[in-house]
Amino acid sequence: MIKAIRGTRDILPPSSGVWNSVEASAREVFRSFNYQEIRTPLFEETVLFARGVGEETDIVSKEMYTWEDRDGTSITLRPENTASVIRSYIEHRMDQWVGLKKLYYMGPMFRRERPQKGRYRQFFQIGAECIGSEAPAVDAEVIELVVEVLERCGVEGAKLLVNSVGCPKCRPGFIETLKQSLQAVKGNMCGDCQRRADTNALRVLDCKVPEDQPVIDALPSILEHLCGECAAHFETVKDLLTARDIEFEVKPRLVRGLDYYTKTTFEFVHGALGAQSAVCGGGRYDGLAESLGSRVPAPGIGFSIGEDRLVMTIEEARAGQTAAGPDLFVAPMGDAAVRHAAVLARELRRGGLVVEVSSDKKLKRALETANKTAARWTLILGDDELAAGEYSLKRMETGEQKRVKREEIASAVRAD
Ligand code: HAM
Repeated sequence: MIKAIRGTRDILPPSSGVWNSVEASAREVFRSFNYQEIRTPLFEETVLFARGVGEETDIVSKEMYTWEDRDGTSITLRPENTASVIRSYIEHRMDQWVGLKKLYYMGPMFRRERPQKGRYRQFFQIGAECIGSEAPAVDAEVIELVVEVLERCGVEGAKLLVNSVGCPKCRPGFIETLKQSLQAVKGNMCGDCQRRADTNALRVLDCKVPEDQPVIDALPSILEHLCGECAAHFETVKDLLTARDIEFEVKPRLVRGLDYYTKTTFEFVHGALGAQSAVCGGGRYDGLAESLGSRVPAPGIGFSIGEDRLVMTIEEARAGQTAAGPDLFVAPMGDAAVRHAAVLARELRRGGLVVEVSSDKKLKRALETANKTAARWTLILGDDELAAGEYSLKRMETGEQKRVKREEIASAVRAD
């Protein structure tokens, strides 16, 4: 048997219905914040992610799906979309477009991680990027946008964590301090941390190994090493979140797994997700465009929601609830009725109802199928009904049945 590749999966009904409604809700919220959709390719030149996300990150150093194309170009399936959006921004000279560039996207990303609950090798993100402003007010609005998307999708109980990772002016000083502190303690830490203590000290703060946590908690905090500008920016962001009644927790260890961040970083975590608790990650990336070759600055901030995890929290909250079936199940009995049913179903569907036409020849079987598919109403259509120009409409929940004329069907179904 040929199966889906490890870490990838099929999204089947009824779950796919939740995916659809999540995406529809997100689009509505994006629209209300005046964001527009961008669709970038699923694969790009490898150098885009190496430079954008950072050679030293786990994503680039061990998780990318990379191959050499026939012309020798190194190509990578996108592990994330921020670098691609900025590539597109530069390529299409969006700096010359009027106002802020507010772009959203939804689609698959690819990372060769160890699959587990909530972690896949092909996973989906719903994300947005706001490019063109350094103002802390934009950070707060982008975070509010996530809050609105989560709320509109029906997610309750997500917790916001915020931090500042400083800028190229203040971060190097902090990293030096961190490295010095690590020299004394790294011997007691996991292998990854021992290596990172020298190569990428900031990443040590991200370590999830339980035994390392007390050591990490005692390390210096980046928030005490921010320059005046970064500290003031962070204060304003927090103030503007408070003004919106958005609750948050400051988490100085939140450095995130991508190298392009400057100043504000944030995550939304959810208790229902277990070990892979982050349902959304984001932050500011003021220098990313320049590192990808832009001659004009393009400060920006954005986020990506893990759609697989978002759907998981919704499905857990709704456990036991059955998915919606069709509004109307049409059960034609006999050849003449089958032809008539097709025309009738088209008319009702065009009027906005969800209609399924039975292919069962026996009424009993048709009613059983109607029940199993959770149809709300069944319309029985036999020779008698055709002759009389009236139909039998059965309400599946109660079993009550009534005779209706053709023009009364839609309103009868809608009324309930
Ligand atoms: P990220 O933190 O790498 O950030 O990913 C964002 C979210 O994608 C995570 O919080 C998680 O919900 C989901 N995710 C990541 N990896 C997996 C996986 N293997 N399986 C399932 N879900 C996963 C970014 O990707 C940045 N581009 C976010 C951003 C946008 N920053 C600025 N703008």
